[in-house]
Amino acid sequence: MDMIVNMNIICKNFWKKFYNKFVDQLIFGGNKIIAVDQNGKEKRIFFVRGLFIRFKGKNSTIILHKPFPKFICSRISLGDNSKVIFKESEDRVKKFIIRGKPNGVFVTVGKNFSVMNGCRIIFGKLPGMKVNIGDDCMFATNITLRTSDGHIVRNKDNNKILNYDKGIEIGNHCWVVNNSQIFKGVKIADNCVIGSNSLVLKNCDEPNCIYAGMPARKVKENITWERRGIEVSDLETLSD
Ligand SMILES: CC(C)(COP(=O)(O)OP(=O)(O)OC[C@H]1O[C@@H](n2cnc3c(N)ncnc32)[C@H](O)[C@@H]1OP(=O)(O)O)[C@@H](O)C(=O)NCCC(=O)NCCS
Repeated sequence: MDMIVNMNIICKNFWKKFYNKFVDQLIFGGNKIIAVDQNGKEKRIFFVRGLFIRFKGKNSTIILHKPFPKFICSRISLGDNSKVIFKESEDRVKKFIIRGKPNGVFVTVGKNFSVMNGCRIIFGKLPGMKVNIGDDCMFATNITLRTSDGHIVRNKDNNKILNYDKGIEIGNHCWVVNNSQIFKGVKIADNCVIGSNSLVLKNCDEPNCIYAGMPARKVKENITWERRGIEVSDLETLSD
C-alpha cells in the first residue's frame, strides 16, 4: 500500500516538473529552439542531442544552424528575453555551459566552433550583456568567460561601483588554450592564441599574436596557427 502511495507521489512530482519545465516554459513561455537548415529554412525543435536546455523565464530563443556542433554534456540556462545563436559546426563541443540570468543575454558562436572539454560562459544580473565568439575558434579544456565578477567592488571614498559587467568579443580563428580565463570587457583580435593558464584582463588588440600569462600580455607577434598537430612531413618547415 505504502509503495503504491509513494509511486503516486513520484509520478505526480514527475508530471508537475515536466509540465513546469517543458510545457509551460517551452510551449507557453514564448521560448523557442529553432533549427535553421542550409537553405535558411527555420523549423522549431524541442530537443538537441547532448545539449540540456533550461528556460527559466520567457521569450528566449536558441537558434542552431545545421549542421549542429556535436554537443556532449553541454548545458544552457536562460532567463527572459535572451538569444543564443550557434552557426554551422561539425566539431565536438563538450561541456559547454552558458549560465545566463536573469534577463537579456546574447551569445553568438561562429562557424566551426569546437570545445575540447569544458567552457563556461558566466553572466551577472545586469541585462543586455553580449558574448560574441567569431568563426573557426578552438577552445581547449576548462575555459571560463566571465562578463561579471559576481560581487561588487566600490571606491571607498565616493562609493562608486568599480567593476560593472561588460561583454566579451573574441575574433575569428582564435585558439584559447587550457585553463584560460577571459574577463569582462575583453576584446580579442582575429587569429590570436591565448596561451595556457592565461588570465585575460585587457584587450588583445593586435591580430596574429600570442597573448599569455597572468595577466596575459603579448608574447609573440606575426603568427598564425592550424588545428592539426605537427606531423613528420612538417619537419623541414620547423624553425630552429
Ligand atoms: C601558446 C603556446 C602554443 C605558445 O607556444 P610557443 O609559440 O612555442 O611559445 P614560446 O614557448 O616560444 O613562448 C614565447 C614566450 O611566451 C611565454 N609564454 C608562452 N606560453 C606562456 C603561458 N602559457 N604563460 C605565460 N607565458 C607564456 C614564454 O615564456 C616566452 O617568453 P619569453 O619570450 O620571455 O621567453 C604554448 O605556450 C602553450 O600554451 N602550449 C600549451 C598547448 C596546449 O595546452 N595544448 C593542449 C591542446 S589545446
